[in-house]
Amino acid sequence: MDRQRLSAFINAFDTDRDPLLTQLELESISQGIPIIRHEMISFLQVILKIVKPGRILEVGTATGFSALVMAAYSDPSCHIVTIEKDPDRITAAREHFSGTDMADRIRLIPGDAQEVLEMLANDPEHACGYDMVFMDAAKAQYIHFLPLVKRLMKPGAIMISDNVLQEGNLLESKYLIPRRDRTIYKRMRDYLYALKHDPALITSILPLGDGVALSYLREDSQAIG
Ligand SMILES: C[S@@+](CC[C@H](N)C(=O)[O-])C[C@H]1O[C@@H](n2cnc3c(N)ncnc32)[C@H](O)[C@@H]1O
Repeated sequence: MDRQRLSAFINAFDTDRDPLLTQLELESISQGIPIIRHEMISFLQVILKIVKPGRILEVGTATGFSALVMAAYSDPSCHIVTIEKDPDRITAAREHFSGTDMADRIRLIPGDAQEVLEMLANDPEHACGYDMVFMDAAKAQYIHFLPLVKRLMKPGAIMISDNVLQEGNLLESKYLIPRRDRTIYKRMRDYLYALKHDPALITSILPLGDGVALSYLREDSQAIG
């Protein structure tokens, strides 16, 4: 199946467009900022209505598009913590947040996600404190972030990991993958294996956008490990 045609077909049904988000989406695409694919917007919107998170953790802010999508479509009492390491993107994200009425609900923590996640996981205010995690940073690092992210999730929380199918590359034999992409290929396969074999998680891998893994942390996860 032609994936681009499929996406265009799905996206053509969209009606509910927030002008501010549409403008930021188009601006980000024209500047080559790697934001969520369009079909992820309504996916997040539905998930946010079902889960009704009070606190969301995002790993990988870029210039703030997905954080603003989550803020716009969640309850006004929902707070978002988002992590980014690129200084220019941090500046741009802060500008985008401050231009909205959602700025006081979004906290951007600058720094490398591994270090920030470690710091948060050891802070009682954050440990087991998140109802939803959106993982959207360097794909090869998801496998390293996972144990810390699990410590930050409340039992019963969900995690959405984006870009897990790597433009379909993950389906191919490793011999067809250019050498420079083999580390990310191996680590993403390991990550999907870890998500599916972790007894504390229930995960569905969906061929939406560039591939999404939707994981649920079991209520009895602390007893399981
Ligand atoms: C795909 S973009 C995020 C897009 C954003 N979620 C959106 O849709 O608007 C990934 C971002 O993660 C950041 N990133 C990658 N590795 C990181 C790390 N180890 N720590 C913090 N940020 C990281 C990159 O700088 C990049 O801006």
